[in-house]
Parts: sequence; C-alpha cells; structure tokens
Amino acid sequence: MKIFKNIAEEQNSVPIENGMILPSALIKDPNPDMSLQDAILTRRTVRAYESKIVPFKVFEDLIQISMNSPTACNEQRWRILYLDNPEVFEELYQRGSAAFIKKSKQAFIILYNNHTDNSEYKDHIQSAAAFINTFSLVAHSLGIGSCWVGHLPNKKELQRFFNVHKYYEPVALVTFGYYRKKVKIKPRKKDPQNIIDKNTFDGSGLIFSKSKNVFVRRIVRKLYYLLPPFLRRKLRKKSLPFEKKFYNELYD
Ligand SMILES: Cc1cc2nc3c(=O)[nH]c(=O)nc-3n(C[C@H](O)[C@H](O)[C@H](O)COP(=O)(O)O)c2cc1C
Repeated sequence: MKIFKNIAEEQNSVPIENGMILPSALIKDPNPDMSLQDAILTRRTVRAYESKIVPFKVFEDLIQISMNSPTACNEQRWRILYLDNPEVFEELYQRGSAAFIKKSKQAFIILYNNHTDNSEYKDHIQSAAAFINTFSLVAHSLGIGSCWVGHLPNKKELQRFFNVHKYYEPVALVTFGYYRKKVKIKPRKKDPQNIIDKNTFDGSGLIFSKSKNVFVRRIVRKLYYLLPPFLRRKLRKKSLPFEKKFYNELYD
C-alpha cells in the first residue's frame, strides 16, 4: 500500500494550475493544519514577495513553533536576529550577499551557540539547519514563502556588523514574505533507489562533473570576501554577473 503521495499534483491543500503551485491561496486561507506531506510537497523557495509585511506577531509565532525542532543534546541554543531595516539589506547586498537580498523587506539570521565539543560534526550548524527547515514548512502553511541564504559575507564580518557574541555563529539568513501568485513545481532529480546504499557505500554509478570548477570558484570566493567592505562595495556591480542565477525573478 502506498503511504505517501509523491508529487505535488497528488495533494489537495494547495491549488495547482498548469504545472504551477499557487501557494498564495494560503494567504487568504491559512492552513496551519494542512497535512505534513502536503506542506512538504508544495513548499518552494521564493525570493520575491508581496509588498504586504508579515506582522511581527506572526513571525514570533513561527519562531515559537520552529523552536520544537531537534537540537544536539536538546540544548536549544538558537538566537534569531530579525531584520527589517532597508539599510541593513542594502549593506548586506553591497558587502556581497546574494543580490536579491537587496529587495527583501523581512529576514532573519539564525545564530547558534558553537561552543560544542562535537565540532567534527558541526552540531550547531545541524541544529540551526533543522530549525530553518521547520520554519519554512510552517511559514508555507500560512502563505509565507522563504529563502534559505548561505551566500553571505564571512561569519566574523557578520558578527562584527551585528555586534554578535563570539560564541554565536551565524549559520544562514532566511528571507521571508507573503507568496506572490505562483511557484514552479521542481521535479526531484533522482529516485530513492539512486541515493540509498545498504550497509556500505556503493560509488560504482557515481559521475562527477568537471565543468563546475569548484576549486577555482572556492579560491575566488575566499579572496573576494577577504577584500575590505569598501572595495567589495566598489566591485559589487562587476561581481553581479558571476552570481549563480537559477530562478525566475518574477515569481521565485
Ligand atoms: C544551505 C542552503 C543554502 C542556500 N543558499 C542560497 C543562496 O545563497 N541563495 C539562494 O538564492 N538560494 C539559496 N538556497 C535555496 C536553494 O537555492 C533552494 O532550496 C533550491 O533551489 C531548491 O529549491 P526548493 O527549496 O524550492 O526546493 C539555499 C538552500 C540551502 C539549503
């Protein structure tokens, strides 16, 4: 017997039209009780939002429910830096963050106490990541889309800029806001059989692309963020074309 639906078209919490999901319907009719699988199947990352602001109380409620996410040793050592100051978004953009941040109206940076003995597995990063995932799913059920952003200046720089205690490590920034009308369905790239190995890793079918130049990109990235902010500001327009763009600016 099939336990789960596996494509967005099979769920019935969010309208689908011509291959597009219409999560904006949830703004008028929020559905925090929608089934978990419907939320998972219809949540999509969005980077452009309606101009209407998410009330701070709603944001607080989203944070409260997201605080039920798992954390290493149940330590629950998150800190949430809520951002709604246009000058801060502009500054983050100028310092080389993902370009769409410039247009954001609301976001938060999730910080997590990195004073862990399990630095090998970066417990604090994993704990923060679990939080972001919960946040994005519950926000979605209220018609609020979000984007998890790792394209940011160096952590030390963010800590200085926001006056953050040295034990609180910035893990990611999350922009959020009410969905515009539609989002694209994104098919899964593989089947479970392609990614599950039983008891031992089987790398026989693995193919690695050499075209991505990860090594070179890493070095360029490192050097770029080592430049002082005033230089990055000067270079910002020139650096734009090198940013990866894999989305449609109008709706996602
Ligand atoms: C760790 C992490 C970092 C990400 N960083 C960025 C980012 O810097 N800029 C961006 O536009 N999207 C970023 N994303 C969002 C992904 O691009 C998005 O999740 C992906 O395209 C899949 O889309 P979906 O969330 O709708 O399934 C990030 C997601 C994750 C999990």
